[in-house]
Amino acid sequence: MENNTAPKLEKKPVIFSGIQPTSGSFTLGNYLGAVKNWSKLQDSYNCAYSIVNMHAITVRQDPAQLKKNTLSAFALILACGVDPEKSIAFIQSHVKTHAELAWVLNCYTQFGELSRMTQFKDKSAKHADNINAGLFTYPSLMAADILLYQTNLVPVGADQKQHLELARDIALRFNGLYGNVFQVPDGYIPKTAARIMSLADPGKKMSKSDENAKATVFLLDPPDTIIKKFKSAVTDSEALVAYREDKPGINNLMSIYSAVTGASIEEIETQFAGKGYGDFKLAVGEAVVEELRPIQEKHARLLADKAYLESCYRAGAEKALGISQRTLDKVYKKVGFLPY
Ligand code: TYM
Repeated sequence: MENNTAPKLEKKPVIFSGIQPTSGSFTLGNYLGAVKNWSKLQDSYNCAYSIVNMHAITVRQDPAQLKKNTLSAFALILACGVDPEKSIAFIQSHVKTHAELAWVLNCYTQFGELSRMTQFKDKSAKHADNINAGLFTYPSLMAADILLYQTNLVPVGADQKQHLELARDIALRFNGLYGNVFQVPDGYIPKTAARIMSLADPGKKMSKSDENAKATVFLLDPPDTIIKKFKSAVTDSEALVAYREDKPGINNLMSIYSAVTGASIEEIETQFAGKGYGDFKLAVGEAVVEELRPIQEKHARLLADKAYLESCYRAGAEKALGISQRTLDKVYKKVGFLPY
């Protein structure tokens, strides 16, 4: 007889995404391009979200700072709405299957493919004194993250598209050799905020590591700093709030305002018709401050409760291990590893 009180085993599509804990805070680009969407997807999908500290050590980190930043980043994804009861939230290095599958996938990824990755080229130009093998094989570890969970969709910003395509190619190659081992994932790239640009140089992506302090808004920046950064945002001399190809600075501010307030580009044009850039920049800054206020407050509360955070990431790692081990076991069997 059917037991009506038993929880329904609904098979929802799977989402996986990750973020590096490089600074303990995220940029507005990280948030609008990726993390803001993570919480919205939790009811319709089975989601797993990870702080990818193993990816972070592909560039040199101060160990004490990395540890601190990892905890802060974990608290920040929860503050941004990732609910550890609904989603699996964990820290990458706690789940050993990621390193294990990454090694296997390294052997199914070509040197030529990795050499074509623009992030590798950019980062090796930036860190010319430390072009390590991990930086080169970074995309195989990212493929492992995704493929371990039989992921259907990966919510990321536009800059991760190339890595995602490589993960798909690796999955297809492996499946071609051994049968259907991996779900082949698709990207989930937002329409409005897939590529938030630097406030100081709207020709460049907003990035955590920008040396210009005015370029990047961080989620944990104090309100007055955020307003100052928006006030100094580079625009043009036309004094017209309109979305046009030759107005990258204004386009960027309009995308940010749209992503934060939900207003469409046309609505923003109407709202600011006849107004100067000073008014518009201030409005964008204030909207961002209001969006981030509850996140900052929740982050501070969470960081003050280390025991709670620890219980969350431990539970997350256990769940992640349970699921990912099944995929890894299958892979080990397929490639011919003698069972232990
Ligand atoms: P990371 O830590 O550089 O960035 C985290 C997320 O933020 C997005 N993003 C942006 N979106 C819009 N505008 C920007 N200026 C901007 N800057 C960053 C990124 O696209 C990303 O979605 N390799 C990944 C982390 C990773 C991962 C994974 C992601 C590791 N394993 C598996 C998805 C699935 C990275 O370095 O993201």
